[in-house]
Amino acid sequence: MNTSSSQRVLSGMRPTGQLHLGHLHGVLKNWLNLQHEYKCFFFVADWHALTTEYDNTSIITKNVWDMVIDWLAVGINPGDATLFIQSKVLEHAELHLLLSMFTPLGWLERVPTYKDQQQKLSNKDLTTYGFLGYPLLQSADILIYKAGLVPVGEDQVAHIEFTREVARRFNHFYGREPDFEDKVKDAMRKMGSKNAKIYKELRKRYQEQGETEALNTAHALVETQRNVSLGDKKRLLGYLEGETKTILPEPAPLLTPVAKMPGLDGQKMSKSYNNTIALRESPSVIEKKIRTMPTDPARMRRTDPGDPEKCPVWQFHKIYSDENIHEWVQAGCRSADIGCLECKQPIIESILAELAPIRERTQRYLEEPESVRAILTEGSEKARTTARETLEEVREVMGLLYR
Ligand code: TRP
Ligand code: SF4
Repeated sequence: MNTSSSQRVLSGMRPTGQLHLGHLHGVLKNWLNLQHEYKCFFFVADWHALTTEYDNTSIITKNVWDMVIDWLAVGINPGDATLFIQSKVLEHAELHLLLSMFTPLGWLERVPTYKDQQQKLSNKDLTTYGFLGYPLLQSADILIYKAGLVPVGEDQVAHIEFTREVARRFNHFYGREPDFEDKVKDAMRKMGSKNAKIYKELRKRYQEQGETEALNTAHALVETQRNVSLGDKKRLLGYLEGETKTILPEPAPLLTPVAKMPGLDGQKMSKSYNNTIALRESPSVIEKKIRTMPTDPARMRRTDPGDPEKCPVWQFHKIYSDENIHEWVQAGCRSADIGCLECKQPIIESILAELAPIRERTQRYLEEPESVRAILTEGSEKARTTARETLEEVREVMGLLYR
């Protein structure tokens, strides 16, 4: 196994219900590639949904099933990736609690989505404990699997950066032998008081002024000590650089690389803009939605020439059509040789062809809801096994193992 395939990938999605083409061409295509290359954990962030939907919980369950069925229908494979529901893995909550003990309030208040979302969702009271702690819950989601890579959109990068800081702080406090400082002091004593004094001064110069010269001198000093054991030398060197053991590794974001799928009106495709094509959309609705899509307003009449750059249909061609069709559209639109309905036809066909097998698989899962439940139960158990291992380590270094 190469290093990349031994890495864990984790990503979560809030249960928003049925997914659409924007999800398929953004997140899901990315997941489909990753599931073959890495050990992937994909989960439904149902607790995260509660941070904003605490007053309207009735739709959460249905949204969870709909979303997971769509994952499965596009080909997310429970044989490759572990699929689970966040609230079925209680360990996330315990880690969240433990991390909360040393996470400064200011860090949470400074996460950009905190104020942004409060303003955007101003009809809701989001001055809650749970909402403020949202990014920390996300950190627990990630750190409990020691995930190295987290596929996310641009809007989530700040949360990954925050998670890195939380991990660093955790390792700083707890990533040491319990009696590390005492052992270092013993080792210093063995150097003799004169050398110990020089060592301490050099360490201070390095740590406070960043003088690498001082660091090098201190290294040499430690290496030449005769009365100091190898283990103690290692400790003295570690102490110089503030070395800590990495218990919770820092994750990196993996930005979704795919072209942005625009909505029917050219804005970002999103349920709240009412401009989506759902993965389960029926062929007749798909056809109607594309046929009524707005085009370049300059083409009032069939004979008016247009500009594809000003038309959302062209954005769809960029995703769905090949070079030949691209040339046909560019020339035909600018010369008014083709009409807009004609121009849209290849897109209708491509989307119908893309969604036909997905719709078929969706149908099958809808008819066998037990199989979907079984996949999630099994996935949640599997996730728990990994989560427990991390938590065991965390409890130990935080002094919570009562054996
Ligand atoms: N916050 C993410 C979103 O709103 C969802 C999420 C929760 C998540 N926990 C996560 C994503 C962990 C990646 C990793 O889209
Ligand atoms: Fe848009 Fe095609 Fe019509 Fe040009 S011909 S305005 S690209 S739909």
